[in-house]
Amino acid sequence: MSQSTHANTAVLPKAFVIGWPIAHSKSPTIHTHWLKQNGLSGSYEKIAVEPCNLERFVGSLKDNGFVGGNVTIPHKEAILSFVDVVHTNAKRLRAANTVWFEGGKLHADTTDGYGFLSNLDQHQPNWDQSSDGKALVLGAGGASRPIINGLIERGFKTITLVNRTKERAESLVETLRELGIGSSMVVGDWQDRSELLAECSLLVNTSSLGMVGQPPLDLSLDALPSSALVTDIVYTPLETNLLRDAKARGNVTVDGLGMLLHQAVPGFEHWFGVRPAVTDALRQLVLSTT
Ligand code: ATR
Repeated sequence: MSQSTHANTAVLPKAFVIGWPIAHSKSPTIHTHWLKQNGLSGSYEKIAVEPCNLERFVGSLKDNGFVGGNVTIPHKEAILSFVDVVHTNAKRLRAANTVWFEGGKLHADTTDGYGFLSNLDQHQPNWDQSSDGKALVLGAGGASRPIINGLIERGFKTITLVNRTKERAESLVETLRELGIGSSMVVGDWQDRSELLAECSLLVNTSSLGMVGQPPLDLSLDALPSSALVTDIVYTPLETNLLRDAKARGNVTVDGLGMLLHQAVPGFEHWFGVRPAVTDALRQLVLSTT
């Protein structure tokens, strides 16, 4: 390698996504598209990091020329112990999916809630104007936390959470109350989910039901107001049985693919200095690789 080539290589910003396993990640498709679209030099690579190697990997980031990256399962919580600055939402949710260097320090934040909200903002502007209305959130797994946090941020007055395992929903709400942000939360019974739709202005499925390989979500929408917005975090298939049923009765629906794309925006901006656009071409590209 010539010296000039070596020097060029050394200054190109490099970002990563780490997980264990990591083969399934769509993030390289998204970030590589944005690098090209914005005419930027840089790279984004998938790296399989075993949990026992996480600390060592993070410790070597600077030496290896990384400007930051994404962090996925099973490292989202553990990463917090190895960074210098943990931002508010990551602290609150005890998980981060994005890290970046700023002022010589490694920062961590979670962008899933941002991705959820921005997806709705893009497809249904002003969707949160009736946020004094009621939201029903189905599922209390890892994916539900940033979404609930986002709805609280947008001022929803009543957020009912139902989960097959009720204790999990109760424990999540307790955590939010301890943080002083759970006053709008109510826990309902899974078997009452259809009745709880009455007066809802927003219905969100954060469970894995409806995903390819999982059972469909069994939910009668009869009680749901026709003005309610319905959204699903599942995007394989793009049109889940929930979204199909909701659309058939005239409700506005927003699919879950946009959440994946929007959650990637803040990271790209931190690493490469340009705010990228979530376009239809990107949606098509990611769908074609699903
Ligand atoms: P993660 O924490 O990564 O989101 P998860 O623990 O598998 O993943 O959570 C998936 C969500 O889908 C949970 O709310 C789960 O309900 P439980 O907490 O009762 O497990 C929900 N879920 C998965 N399969 C389900 C099923 N057959 N019926 C109802 N809910 C289901």
